[in-house]
Amino acid sequence: MRIFICLMAIVIATTSWAEEITLSTPAEGSVSTAEGLSAWDRVYEVASHPRCANCHVGPSEQPMWSGPSYGKTRPHGMNIHAGESRIGAETMLCSTCHAYREGTGNDLPHMAPQVAMNWQLAPVEAHWFGQSSEEICNQLRDPDRNGGRTMDEIAEHLNHDLILHWAWSPGGGREPAPYSLQEHVNDILIWGVAGFPCANDQ
Ligand code: HEC
Ligand code: HEC
Repeated sequence: MRIFICLMAIVIATTSWAEEITLSTPAEGSVSTAEGLSAWDRVYEVASHPRCANCHVGPSEQPMWSGPSYGKTRPHGMNIHAGESRIGAETMLCSTCHAYREGTGNDLPHMAPQVAMNWQLAPVEAHWFGQSSEEICNQLRDPDRNGGRTMDEIAEHLNHDLILHWAWSPGGGREPAPYSLQEHVNDILIWGVAGFPCANDQ
């Protein structure tokens, strides 16, 4: 019976990860710069949250940990370095521990999080950890540093990336990223239609 309940929980968890997000772009010209800036403030709250920033580190190549028992954020244990490959190819692959295994959830404390795609650091250009709101704002609107994405493509990417779905239901007692994936996608679209304003534009 207990096994059955566990299986049910996993089915529910998997279904909610795959939840589709609606992309409803506001009409051109319908969003003021001020509204765009306040949407950006919410995007920044998400981007700077440990569930996102711990992988979006810069040239240190070191993922960060802020699990429930660590209090303060600190470098990933076991001396893990992602290397220039960002996947640990030079030392130990992230997938050694972060491989997706069908039927095992992320619910146990201290378990290495796993999703059904490659677990790896974000590209070095998308360095968010410890960066200011303005720095992240300018990076994310710059096609040379955001993977060449338009606003719609950023929103699409957010929808299809399973790591993102994990960040909003991380399990193991970890705090989820703020707001919801849907609200985050809405905010990206509001910010984009307002013309990607950043505080340093004024
Ligand atoms: C497990 C590590 C990991 C976590 C956690 C993570 N990301 Fe990422 N992120 C990546 C990788 C890898 C890429 C590059 C994927 C690609 O370009 O296809 C990426 C790319 C992105 C991009 C594309 C734009 C750019 O500047 O490269 C956005 C936007 C993004 N992540 C948002 C988020 C948000 C928001 C969160 C938290 C809710 C988050 N990420 C958490 C690894 C991570
Ligand atoms: C030797 C096993 C192992 C390897 C290899 C490994 N990890 Fe982890 N990772 C873990 C464990 C275990 C946890 C969970 C720690 C906890 O919460 O107590 C974890 C947690 C994480 C977290 C979640 C941190 C948080 O606070 O949300 C991130 C991000 C992460 N690892 C990134 C990586 C990246 C990127 C790589 C490859 C460069 C990698 N890990 C390689 C074992 C590993």
